[in-house]
Formats: sequence, structure tokens, C-alpha cells
Amino acid sequence: MTDTLSVRDNRTGRDYELAITDGTIRAADLKQIAVDDDGGLATYDPGFVNTASCRSSVTFIDGDKGVLEYRGYPIEQLAEHSTFLEVSYLLLNGELPTADELAAWTHQVTHHTFLHENIKQFIQGFRYDAHPMGMLMASVSALSTFYPDASDISDSANRQLQITRLIAKMPTLGAFAYRNGLGKPYVYPDNGLSYVENFLAMLFKMSEPRYESDPRIVKALDVLLILHADHEQNCSTNAVRSVGSSQVDPYSAVAAGIGALYGPLHGGANEAVLKMLRRIGSVENIPGFIEGVKAGKEKLMGFGHRVYKNFDPRATIIKKACDDVFEVTGVNPLLAIAKELEKIALEDEYFVKRKLYPNVDFYSGLIYEALEFPPEMFTVLFAIGRTPGWLAQWSELVQDKEQKIARPKQIYTGTRTRDFVPMDQR
Ligand code: ACO
Repeated sequence: MTDTLSVRDNRTGRDYELAITDGTIRAADLKQIAVDDDGGLATYDPGFVNTASCRSSVTFIDGDKGVLEYRGYPIEQLAEHSTFLEVSYLLLNGELPTADELAAWTHQVTHHTFLHENIKQFIQGFRYDAHPMGMLMASVSALSTFYPDASDISDSANRQLQITRLIAKMPTLGAFAYRNGLGKPYVYPDNGLSYVENFLAMLFKMSEPRYESDPRIVKALDVLLILHADHEQNCSTNAVRSVGSSQVDPYSAVAAGIGALYGPLHGGANEAVLKMLRRIGSVENIPGFIEGVKAGKEKLMGFGHRVYKNFDPRATIIKKACDDVFEVTGVNPLLAIAKELEKIALEDEYFVKRKLYPNVDFYSGLIYEALEFPPEMFTVLFAIGRTPGWLAQWSELVQDKEQKIARPKQIYTGTRTRDFVPMDQR
């Protein structure tokens, strides 16, 4: 079998042979298929539904089979046996750490959790009702001004330092943003606590000398962070890569990722799910709601995925984490609505035909709410979890010799060359 694609251009009658590599053809190879001097053939792919933008060895997904692997390790095994910091190391370095490597990595992250005091003041400058994702995006972007050395992205030790800083400081930024909204004093990091324990303490500690968190809650939150740690070329990772391709510093690139994640079709979906469940209010209202979805009035948030067309393996793990959390917090009354909604949707022809299944966000919001996070904080938790993935992908990008500045083509649909019309003649 020859790995080529034979193409006949019926406009000209000419035949072409295009190389197939790794199941793809090079879009640039299509340029030779030209009529006169029209610049050659291009592909039109809004939303990149069938375009590979990079080679990557970070995360593997088989959407039909519901497989998700970080560096080859199945997500189920990592969620069961690993920790978020260990998974971060894996994503960033390609291999699981030895005990010494993990200890060194944990030490480095733990000792970069503090923020410059001016960042604190910067966060205080937001209004009381500012959305924490907006605050997170702005303050991560502001970090680039505190670390101007970060612009030297060609130096690997320097890249590693910025990566450590970002992973370490994200929970501090998220917690400060949260407490700003409540008017509560900020809690500084405690280097004696684990990554998740420290985050919970910065969120919820008041006057007690040390915040004690329930180990089951710590484990559940750690699992949630692992599940969100990477998801190959999703909208926010593509934003990080696209902005990073200009060779800007990683804070600016990650801020772009946070902006993309904020949207309700991406990370903002978990917040939207919770608001939707509250609006539905009770199980009796579900049939009417489903009819509205099928009539195209709105979407069933937390359902559907660009890649998973069978089930989202993260949703399966989260469902189990729900049980563990509710054992501590008591069952969230919205769970009954969510379960009934899922049952009806999975049997309904509209959803079955379109292969719409619960995604990671359908149940994560219920856990976050049980942990007493306001819905606005849900996507912040997602962002903290996704940071190692963004940075692993960014590292790969800046070292990839095949990468270029991201610059898609367009199909121009506007008017061509015309003369300027003076104001009094318009
Ligand atoms: N509710 C109702 N109908 C839906 C839903 C939904 N949640 N999702 C897709 N559909 C329908 C579409 O209307 C479309 O129907 P049509 O063929 O009759 O026009 C069909 O299913 C295909 O949907 P697309 O929008 O083309 O699928 P796409 O891959 O572009 O979108 C997405 C995927 C954005 C996730 C979509 O399913 C959606 O909006 N879901 C709700 C938001 C959500 O939960 N997002 C979280 C994703 S996971 C994450 O980011 C971590």
C-alpha cells in the first residue's frame, strides 16, 4: 500500500499525488492544486473540526472508545493512584517522577506559592462583584510584568522556573480572587500543607491556627484537578499555543488560555450546568425543559463533546467522586435532578442520534457546590487543574521546530477595491 492520495482536479483535469503521513495530508501540499494564479487550493475548517495543528506526545484521546491517557497512562489509573502534582510532573516531563524527583518538584512548587504584595493590591482593585475568572485572567497576565525574565523562552531552565511559578501561584491567585468577592482577608500560603490542603486553607480558613480539611475532600479535589489537567488540542490549549506561537512569555499565553476557558461552551459549562439545574428546580420540570432543548430553545449544558461521542471517561470517574464527597457533605439536592436528566437524555432519540452524553462538567459542578464554592469559582478550579497541561503543551510548542506563528487563512467575502466616499456623499 502506498501512503499517498491521488487527486484529480476536475477544473483542470490535472492529477496530483499527495503524501499521507500519520493519517494526514499537509495542507500546504494542496497549494500546488491551482487554477491559473489563484494561489492554489486551501482547506476551509471553521473550529478546526478536522485539522491537526501540531504533533504532540502529551495526551492521547480516542473519542469513540472513551479513552484518555496522559503520556500513555490511562486517566482511570492516574485518578486512582496518583496526585495532581505527580501528574503535573508527568505531563511536563513525559515520565512519572522517582521519589526524589517528586520530593524536589513538590518542594519547588510549595516554595513559589507566595505572590508579590503588589499583585494582592492589584486583585483588591477589582469591584466586589468581579467575576473571579476575569480576575484570574488579568492577574496571570499581570505576572508577566513581575517576571520580565520570563520573556526569554529559549532558555530551558528559565522556562522551568516560570512553569513552577505558574503552577504554584494559580491556587493563591484563585483563592485571593474568591476572598476578594466575599470581603474576607486573604490567607497566605502555608508551606507545611499539601497543594490541595493549602488551596482549601487559603479559601476557607478564618481565625483557626491551621485549617483542617477532610482527607476525603482533599482526595476528591485532587482527583478533579487530575481529570482536568490536560485534554490535548481543546479550545483553551489551542489559545495558549496560538498566542504562544508569537513567542510571547508563558504568563501572557496562559492568560489567553484562561480567557478561552471562561466561555460557557468550554470551562464555563460547569457553572452553566449548575445554574441550569437550579432553574429546572425539580424533577417534575424536566420533561418541559427537555422539550425546550429539543426545540432548539437552549442547550442541555454539560452534554455533548467535540471528541467524545460515546462517553467521557472523566464523567465516569467524577460520578464516583460525587459519592465520596456527598458522604462528607450530605447529598446535594440537585443530584436527583441531574441523575433524572441524564436518564431521560440517554434514552431520548434526539440525544442518542446526536451522540450527546454527559461530559466532565455535568457532575463536577455538583461536587464544587457541595464543597461550598459559588458557581463563579467552578471555572477557576478548572483553570488551576488545566495549568500543567497548558504549560506542557506550551513547552512542546516552543521546542517544536515545525511550529510557526499561528496565522490561518480566510475566505474573503467582502467588497473589493473601491474609492473612498467623502462624508457628505454617504
Ligand atoms: N444540548 C442540545 N443539543 C446539543 C448539545 C447540547 N448540549 N450539544 C450539541 N447539540 C446538538 C447541536 O445542536 C447539533 O444539532 P444539529 O445537528 O441538529 O444541528 C448537534 O448536537 C451537534 O452539535 P455541535 O454543536 O455541532 O457539536 P460541537 O462538536 O461543535 O460542540 C460542544 C461540542 C460545544 C461541547 C456542544 O456539545 C455544547 O455546546 N455542549 C454544551 C456545553 C458544554 O457542556 N460544554 C463543555 C464541553 S467539555 C469541556 O469544555 C471541558
